[in-house]
Amino acid sequence: MTVGVIGSGAMGAGIAQVAAMAGHSVILYDNNAAALGKAKAGLTATLQKLQEKGKLPNAEEVLQRFSFAENISAFADCGLILEAIVERLEVKKAVFGEVEKAVSDTCILASNTSSLSITSIAAACNNPARVMGLHFFNPAPLMALVEIIPAIQTNPELVPFAKDLMLKWGKTPVIAKDTPGFIVNRVARPFYSEAIRVYEEGIADMATIDWAMTEIGGFRMGPFTLMDYIGHDVNYVVTETVFQSFFYDARYKPSFSQKRLLEAGWLGRKSGKGFYNYAEGAEMPAPNKDKVLGTEIVERVLAMLINEAVDALYLKVASAADLETAMTKGVNYPKGLLQWCNEWGTDKCLEKLDGLYHQYHEDRYRASILLRKQAIENKKIV
Ligand code: NAI
Repeated sequence: MTVGVIGSGAMGAGIAQVAAMAGHSVILYDNNAAALGKAKAGLTATLQKLQEKGKLPNAEEVLQRFSFAENISAFADCGLILEAIVERLEVKKAVFGEVEKAVSDTCILASNTSSLSITSIAAACNNPARVMGLHFFNPAPLMALVEIIPAIQTNPELVPFAKDLMLKWGKTPVIAKDTPGFIVNRVARPFYSEAIRVYEEGIADMATIDWAMTEIGGFRMGPFTLMDYIGHDVNYVVTETVFQSFFYDARYKPSFSQKRLLEAGWLGRKSGKGFYNYAEGAEMPAPNKDKVLGTEIVERVLAMLINEAVDALYLKVASAADLETAMTKGVNYPKGLLQWCNEWGTDKCLEKLDGLYHQYHEDRYRASILLRKQAIENKKIV
C-alpha cells in the first residue's frame, strides 16, 4: 500500500519516516516547496544517522521508498492519506475536499489533528465514512502512542484496520471517542492548568512546583519546564481549543499567565524565554524543597488528573486499559492515573477534590460521579 502524507513539517515528516521504515512507498506533499526541501534533507540525514548507529540496515533502501510531490494529483494510487498540515479547521476541510477528488474510492483519509473534531473534518468529504483520526505524538518516530479516532460517520471496519496497521508500524494504538483533546490532550490538561493555578495564587513558585512534581510526584518533567519545552504557541492553543470545545467548562479554563507569554512571543525554550529565562548566563530559580508544601502541590495536581481520567472513563472516551496506555506512552506518566487512583484510594481522591470544591466553590473542582460512587461504595475505580 502506498501512503500519502500531506504536510511535511515536524509531524508529517516524522509520520512519513515511520511509514517508510515499515516498508511502504510514501508520497510526501506540501504546498510550500521550501518546507518539502527541508523535510527531504532532514529525512535523509535522520535515516543515515540511524544506519550509522546500527539501528537501520540500509538507509538508502528506505530513502528510495520516498517521493516528494508538489501536487496532490500524485496521490492517485494511495491506499491511505495522512494529513498533518496547519491546525485550522477551515484549511483542513478545504484540503480534505480536494484530496478526496484526487484519490481512489477506496483510499482511507486520516487526520493527525490534536484538537479539532474529526467529525467536522469528515463532513467536508462526499464519503465521510472513509475519514478517521490517527493522532501521533511528537516526535512521531520515537513516541509509541497513536490515538485512533473514529468520527461519528466513520465506517466501523476502519478501526480494526487502523489498529492492525499501527501495530505493524511498531506503534501502540488506543481508541478514543471523537471528543475534544481525545485522550491525552484532555486528561493531561490539569498537569498544566492546576500547576499554573497554584503558582498564580502564590502558593508556590514555578521552580518549587516543578521540583515537587518531579521529585515527589515522579513525573519526568515539571509542568513549567514541560510547557516551555512544548512551546506556548502549541500548549496554550491546545488548552484554549479544548476549553472552547467543551462549551467553556470551567475545568479546562486557560490562564492569563500563559496567554500573556504567548502574546509577548515568549514561547519557551525555542525563543529563549518562557516561564523561565534560557538566555546564556541566566540563573534558574531555586526551589523551596519543603516536603509538606511539595506533597500538598502533588496531591492537588494529581487529584485533578485522576478526576479527569476517571471522568473520561465514565463518559466512555476510552477503555480503562487504553486510558492507562495513553497516559504512560503518550506523555510518559510514571503510572496510569486509574492505577494511581486505586493505590491512593478512591476515598482519599474524593476527599481531596471535595476539599478543594468546598474551599473554592468553583465548578472546576467538581468530582466525577464515578469517583464519588466508587468511593462511597468503598470500591476501586476498575
Ligand atoms: P508544522 O507547522 O511543523 O508543519 C505543517 C506543514 O503543513 C508545513 O510544512 C506547511 O507548509 C504545510 N501546510 C500548511 N498548509 C498546507 C496546505 N493547505 N496544503 C499542504 N501543506 C500545507 O506543523 P506540525 O507541528 O507538524 O503539526 C501538523 C499537524 O499535526 C497539526 O494538525 C497539529 O495539531 C498536529 N500535531 C502536532 C503535534 C506537535 O507536537 N507539533 C503533535 C501531534 C499532532
